[in-house]
Order: sequence, then structure tokens, then C-alpha cells
Amino acid sequence: MLTIALPTGRVFSDAAALVAASGLPCSGLESPGRKLVIEDGDFRYILAKPSDVPLYVGYGTADLAFAGSDVLLESAIPLVELLDTGKGKCRVVVAGPAHLKKRFQAHQSELMWLKVATKYPRIADGFFAARGAQVDIIHLHGSIELAPKLGLSDCILDIVQSGNTLRANNLEILEHVCGISLRLVASKKSVALNWAGIRKVTEAISTGLEAER
Ligand code: PRP
Repeated sequence: MLTIALPTGRVFSDAAALVAASGLPCSGLESPGRKLVIEDGDFRYILAKPSDVPLYVGYGTADLAFAGSDVLLESAIPLVELLDTGKGKCRVVVAGPAHLKKRFQAHQSELMWLKVATKYPRIADGFFAARGAQVDIIHLHGSIELAPKLGLSDCILDIVQSGNTLRANNLEILEHVCGISLRLVASKKSVALNWAGIRKVTEAISTGLEAER
């Protein structure tokens, strides 16, 4: 049996649709309700919080998973990336009030000790360190846009898809950090011990994607 982890939340429907399009047995996946484990034939699907998905694969509990590249970067767990599905596209950006733009365009020393709220402390640390700025990272778990509004931080590093949340909270993009999409990944253990099975699923998902294009 192969176990495939799917992230709940905004990319769940993309991941579930990819599994369906691949022709893998997956009845019950389109409307799982509160179920966290769904089995069909030789496949077991586990529905996990997006930020936990790399852990399930890293520990070998899941053989394969769909995960956003933001979550993969943040986890830094060594996994085997098999496919960029091109789904769930969004961006990681630094955003804040418009008056901060000048500081971002000036010398890097202007960014020193900036307070940055984020769900992605590792990505934020890497990004600002590469810019030569030591910043104060405030690790939050959601509704990040609240932080600069309430003075908890100067700016945020977060994902932007439609831009609606930034607009609704009077925040502007100050810097582009990286593009994000939904990836298919596997555990090193499964690749080593069951490459035939992993390859079959990868090819089926790839074929499903091609058919959609
Ligand atoms: C994400 C992100 C932004 C928002 C961006 O939050 O952290 O807040 O979506 O999307 P938009 O550009 O389409 O408005 P999510 O909805 O995942 O909830 P969270 O804040 O609780 O993490």
C-alpha cells in the first residue's frame, strides 16, 4: 500500500483533483468530510495540516505528498521532489505600509532591526540575511496582516495569491521573495525501497496534468 499525504486548506482541492485526474483509485477524496484517512484499493490518503505534510514524508509515514514549495522551503526537511504541478501558484513577498517603500529602496542598513512578522521564520531569516540585514523575526501562525496594523511588527513576510488580504489591510508589496507552487514529493526511504511504485504514481499524475493542458 502507498500512502499519499494531501494538505488540507486552500490547495486541497487542487491536490485532490490531480489525484482524480491521474486515475488512481481515490473514491471518498472529493468530499472527505472530517475524515483524515481515506483508503481505496492499494492507496491510502492522509489529510494533514499543510505545514505538517513534510514531516509525515520525512519520517516515512507517507510515501508521497503534495506540498506547497513555501512549506517545503520552510521545513528544510530533505525530500525528493518529483514534480512541479504548476498548481496553487502564489508568491512569497515582504509587505508593509507604503511609507516603508523608501527604506526598502535605500541602503540595506535601513532594514536593520526591522520587525518582520511571518509564518515562515526560516525563509524570512534567509531572505534578510542574504540582503545583509539583521531583522527581528516575529513568528506567528496566521492572520499575519494583523501584526503591522496593530504595531506588533513593521512589515510581514507572507504569501500573496489574489492580493485581496493585503489590499483590505492597506499593505503594499515591498519585495518579491520567491514564487510558489504545489509540488509532488516523496520520502527518500520510499524512493530507495519502492521506486517502481513511486514512479508509477508520478507518471500517472504527470499524465493527468498533461491531459488537462
Ligand atoms: C494566506 C496568507 C494571506 C492570504 C493571502 O492566509 O497568509 O493572509 O492567504 O491570500 P490573498 O492574497 O488571496 O488574499 P490563509 O488564508 O492561508 O490564512 P491564515 O492567515 O490563517 O494563515
